[in-house]
Amino acid sequence: MSAPRNILVTSALPYANAPLHLGHLVEYTQTDVWVRFQRMRGHECRYVCASDAHGTPTMLRAEAMGVRPEDLVQEIAEHHRADFERFHISVDNYLTTHSDENREITSEIYRRLNAAGHIVRRSIEQAYDEQRGMFLPDRYVRGQCPVCGTPDQYGDSCESCGATYTPLDLKDPISVLSGSRPAVRSSEHFFFRLGTFEQELKHWVAEHIDASLVRKLDEWFDAGLKDWDISRDAPYFGFEIPDEPNKYFYVWFDAPIGYMASFLNLCRRTGLNFDEYWCDGHDTELYHFIGKDIVYFHTLFWPAVLSGAGYRKPSGVFVHGFLTVDGQKMSKSRGTFIMATTFARHLEPDCLRYYFAAKLGPTPDDLDLNLDDFVARVNADLVGKLVNIASRCAGFVHRLGEGRLSATLADEKLYETFVAEGDTIASDYETLNYSRAIRRIMGLADKANQYIDEHKPWVLAKEPDSADAVVDICTLGLNLFRILIGYLKPVVPELARRSERFLDIDELRWSDLSTPLLGSQIARFEALLQRIDPKAVQAMIEDSREDAAAASAPAAKQSDEIDIDAFAKIDLRIAKIVSASHVDGADKLLHLELDVGGETRQVFSGIRAAYDPTDLEGRLVVVVANLKPRTMRFGVSEGMILAAGEGKNDIFLLSPDAGAKPGMKVT
Ligand code: MSP
Ligand code: ZN
Repeated sequence: MSAPRNILVTSALPYANAPLHLGHLVEYTQTDVWVRFQRMRGHECRYVCASDAHGTPTMLRAEAMGVRPEDLVQEIAEHHRADFERFHISVDNYLTTHSDENREITSEIYRRLNAAGHIVRRSIEQAYDEQRGMFLPDRYVRGQCPVCGTPDQYGDSCESCGATYTPLDLKDPISVLSGSRPAVRSSEHFFFRLGTFEQELKHWVAEHIDASLVRKLDEWFDAGLKDWDISRDAPYFGFEIPDEPNKYFYVWFDAPIGYMASFLNLCRRTGLNFDEYWCDGHDTELYHFIGKDIVYFHTLFWPAVLSGAGYRKPSGVFVHGFLTVDGQKMSKSRGTFIMATTFARHLEPDCLRYYFAAKLGPTPDDLDLNLDDFVARVNADLVGKLVNIASRCAGFVHRLGEGRLSATLADEKLYETFVAEGDTIASDYETLNYSRAIRRIMGLADKANQYIDEHKPWVLAKEPDSADAVVDICTLGLNLFRILIGYLKPVVPELARRSERFLDIDELRWSDLSTPLLGSQIARFEALLQRIDPKAVQAMIEDSREDAAAASAPAAKQSDEIDIDAFAKIDLRIAKIVSASHVDGADKLLHLELDVGGETRQVFSGIRAAYDPTDLEGRLVVVVANLKPRTMRFGVSEGMILAAGEGKNDIFLLSPDAGAKPGMKVT
């Protein structure tokens, strides 16, 4: 094996305005498998990430919730951190980009770029919302496409004809924030001169970026590298540009610097040397894992900014494709927009990690989570093949060998063939060909099962004086299992941990695998992994629909106008809560029985985090009485009660003044 390498790895920073979904986990799984693999091989591999705090969406979301953006960011970052832990994503540090470290490095990089002449100022015209008193990002202006005439298109591109343009080109533009027609205002912006770095970038790309991306990059080079606007006007949630009042760094300027900031924070806590990883002239490696949507930022802007500010460029940028579920884009109404937390409530994170790894290759192709295939594959491979080896062998070692493994291997050659595959599998991991690594590992698992099938310990055990022979067979079986678990450990860390406990061994490293485990005591076998019950997947889908319904509460955007007739169609009634109770298996819902003026209705309401059932009984609320009944896992919900707030414990039920009676119509 090569001398220990010093590697720093990052994943793209999730936006701090929403929790993680399974799409994010494709990336964090891909990164974590690689990191764990490097560590198992004996390398120093640090992995840092952070939540991406800044920008208009975070600012507006915080405003709509009536909280400070800083507090919103802290809360969501906490959520991200917890999801990382749940999915065993082994980051060494997790920060947010709204941190002192990030402010410090961002200012310094800007200062250096400015001093070196890489920043220019220019006035530009932009859409401005006079009612809200702010410039509008492209996506906050809608109007008619100037090319094909399709109405209601975003300010940057047309979904119908694909044309790209600026918001000022739209016909009949409106601000999605206020519904008013935006004015045109000019303001001075700061631009990073990307074009200066063209030759340097071309060389860097040729050496460090995978061939599958070269065509796209060539298109960008051919189109010419334009100056990049790195400033935004107040009001903006971000870092103010030093000595430039009311000017802020654009979120994408300080976001990748967040990689450095998170690492700097780690260095200050642990004594690692920051410069060794970020300055030229050191024998360290730096890799970024990203999705295919943010390649321009990471392969052009970012290395140019690093270089312009006197830092080293990345050793590589690894790009993956997008996740679909059952062949389609994740969808809230279909229940396939699955949050990480929701998945973990119903299923084991290792199972998802395994499935993603089994589908991930080195090129940025999209990958599909087919839910039936997911169940079938995990049950067949992990439970049916892998864990099965251990469960077939463990009992005999306990019954006939007092739990002690034999002192020799029954078939050394077989063991050696398993060891010999190690280098190939390692090179698959190294080159991000996880799907191929897994095919090889499962091929070996078949061989291990075949060995046991052929030697039939369960038949042999019935013969007199066969105990030693049976334990020998099972000792080899368990040793093959140990190798397989070792090979798969970067992918399924929790299953590996349970297996290590069962074999009563220290944390497996790659180099341990060439030496068999002999003569030692093993622990009692407990099921290492349960088969997935398809019902659990169904429950997760149902739960995701509930999540989506709960999240579609007040948006920053104001609703479209409706006329009085549309409003009159909603049958709002006063109702009295007759009884309220928890619902088994639904941690967000309360079951309410309502008296709507002589008629009783049952309603499932997502208010459990905010209300104690006993406080609700007897109180009056407002109910939408003609809402189409909805069949849920727990029963039919026959209406909806009105509440304000963002959800969770931020929910406020509406109630009438004294004197109102159940059944009264609200108009
Ligand atoms: N905040 C930026 C990244 C800044 S990095 C300096 C961002 N955030 S994100 O939350 O939208 O996405 C984070 C990562 O998750 C990106 O690499 C993105 O490609 C990836 N994914 C987000 N949705 C995804 C899928 N549906 N499928 C696969 N990856 C996806 O971009
Ligand atoms: Zn168009």
